[in-house]
Amino acid sequence: MKDMTKTAATLVRSDRGILAADESISTMNKRLTAAGIPAAEENRRAYREMLVTTPGLNEGASGVILCDETFRQRLRDGRAFPEAMADLGLLAGIKVDTGARPLAGAPGETVTEGLDGLRERLTEYAGLGAAFAKWRAVFRIGDGVPSWRSVRADTHALARYACLCHEAGIVPIVEPEVLMDGPHTLDQCSAVTAAVGLTLFSELRDYEVALDAIVLKPNMVVPGTESGQATGPHEIAARTVDAFKDVVPEQTAGIAFLSGGQSPDAAATNLAALRKIKTPWPLTFSFGRALVQPALTAWRGDAGRVADGQRALSNRVACNLAALRGGYRPADAKSYALT
Ligand code: 13P
Repeated sequence: MKDMTKTAATLVRSDRGILAADESISTMNKRLTAAGIPAAEENRRAYREMLVTTPGLNEGASGVILCDETFRQRLRDGRAFPEAMADLGLLAGIKVDTGARPLAGAPGETVTEGLDGLRERLTEYAGLGAAFAKWRAVFRIGDGVPSWRSVRADTHALARYACLCHEAGIVPIVEPEVLMDGPHTLDQCSAVTAAVGLTLFSELRDYEVALDAIVLKPNMVVPGTESGQATGPHEIAARTVDAFKDVVPEQTAGIAFLSGGQSPDAAATNLAALRKIKTPWPLTFSFGRALVQPALTAWRGDAGRVADGQRALSNRVACNLAALRGGYRPADAKSYALT
């Protein structure tokens, strides 16, 4: 457990974030197609190679989360991704859930699957070099949802996943995401986020999961995208910390927020405001889209534009590092870079 506690502390260290580049094959294909890039295995591989080999990435990221396909692929120089990441000073993470599927008896709600055979898969991933894993549960806010049935099913699965990770010597990133899509208010997001968190930690306690060897990856508390509610970063930060302060035990290794579809700039601005608040746990970022979207757009699937894609990723990682230091200035966003 000592090694896992150390890994968890590394993942949430105050001067690094975690890069989430673990989109499933179908999600990645959608993102490639939307960027005008053919949805092919080689493009998914080349895109991830561009990301992880970004110069100086390990100065801004402690680790990178990949999906099963990438974990088994190789860089052009022949090294397997986890092996190359170790050389680059990055911890290798693996998404191990198999996606959200309709939850029986709960129309419109999902439960994240992937527990069957997970013990064996985790053992294999550990052998391939995984230091940490990720499992994402998704909750939509709507009329009468999320239901207690869905909250209980998803948080129970997260606790079983966390327990199995520890058995395999892998640090679990525990990700309960309350989606920002919809007309719900900031208050509703806050109430649902706190209720999901409370249920999650009750399940984790029941499973006797060592909290100093897990990383919580939640949403920030924001109003729904169609709510029309204008909320500034200080209110978002205050409401986010409020939602978690009586819910997340102090022993928890730390919190790494997801971006959830916020613009790169909004995510960095909100993170900077969050870091200004004193909290019992370390706070950092584990963004996907808010880090990689500009890189994908700059790259365009063109081998001749790899350096442009890497500059775009370096820029967004550096913006969020500035946010961690409390000194992010959106007006200067373009000037930030790693190294
Ligand atoms: P976003 O930051 O794009 O929400 O992605 C984070 C993630 O890991 C989703 O599972």
